[in-house]
Amino acid sequence: MKRPIAYLAGTGRAAPAKVVTNNDFAALGLETSHEWIVERTGISERRIAGPGESTCSLAATAARTAMQRARVTPGELDVIVLSTATPDRLLPATAVDVQAALGATRAAAFDISAACSGFLYGLQVAEGLMSAGSHETVLVVSAEKMSAIVDWTDRSTCVLFGDGAGAAVLQRSEDGKGILSSFVRSDGTLAELLYRPGGGALVPFTEDVLKDRSHYVKMAGREVFKHAVRSMAEAADRALDAARLTGNDIDVMIPHQANVRIIEATAKHANIPMDKVYVNVDRYGNTSSASIPIALDEAIECGRVKEGSTVLMVAFGAGFTWGSTIVRF
Ligand code: ACO
Repeated sequence: MKRPIAYLAGTGRAAPAKVVTNNDFAALGLETSHEWIVERTGISERRIAGPGESTCSLAATAARTAMQRARVTPGELDVIVLSTATPDRLLPATAVDVQAALGATRAAAFDISAACSGFLYGLQVAEGLMSAGSHETVLVVSAEKMSAIVDWTDRSTCVLFGDGAGAAVLQRSEDGKGILSSFVRSDGTLAELLYRPGGGALVPFTEDVLKDRSHYVKMAGREVFKHAVRSMAEAADRALDAARLTGNDIDVMIPHQANVRIIEATAKHANIPMDKVYVNVDRYGNTSSASIPIALDEAIECGRVKEGSTVLMVAFGAGFTWGSTIVRF
């Protein structure tokens, strides 16, 4: 097992105050029900951004808590890595808005786009920058305003997602704590199973895009489900093998929170009992890349993850991208 380079010195999270329950969809004229959504996904409610809440504002709130817990000031940040599928603007990166909001005057800042796997991609990028030797303190923040890109007339997607942000401050590991192993992969041949066809440089925004609603998320749910189960199982295996651990060595598993059935299948494959798995998809829905750091921060706050805990994080998302990270706290 490699000697950890980086450890998570502090975490934080943010969620909009507005709660949308499954029953609220009826008022929007959608033919769905609380029972259908809970049975297929495990989701009961999600947080939805209100006026004035943006990807940047959620990111900055989560980041401030993470920095406070890590006892790091904005001026000490060397790099800000922001993962998001919902940048506030297409140019420039939302990371620079976060840099400005925090007053992180020494920090380089850039976005990464790896959909729901973005936090784990971000951790690996941060660790790589730190191992290159030039950076000591890196903020990885994942923030999503999924409510801005889902089609609120499409019951097969809009019920699944929510808004929120989670953050971690990484510093150099000195005592064997930190990231023990990581694994990331992608398969772009399957991109069109979950994507936004219109509104980018390939199909620029026009009246036609607006008319056929192709700027919203399109998803082949069943196909995505199958790939998610397969790829999250592979990711769990790879990170465990690389750290020379088995499911028995894991104290807490923090999976991407998309669907409780995907989570159960991943845990079963990794031989991790569900009482070791942190689940909050019922309260947040799928917040894309923010889901793992939000769950991690809650698990730390409530004492499920504590000093000495070995934590397995596993993700899968649009791209497809998938990955896993094992951290010793
Ligand atoms: N309420 C009621 N009925 C619905 C709803 C809804 N909200 N949404 C779809 N249906 C209907 C469909 O129209 C379909 O009706 P039909 O049989 O008359 O055509 C029926 O329910 C079955 O639809 P399926 O899509 O086959 O339902 P399935 O059991 O596959 O569940 C779901 C759908 C929940 C989307 C599931 O496929 C899934 O979870 N997929 C993974 C998607 C995911 O998590 N994506 C997030 C991004 S990737 C990630 O984060 C892992």
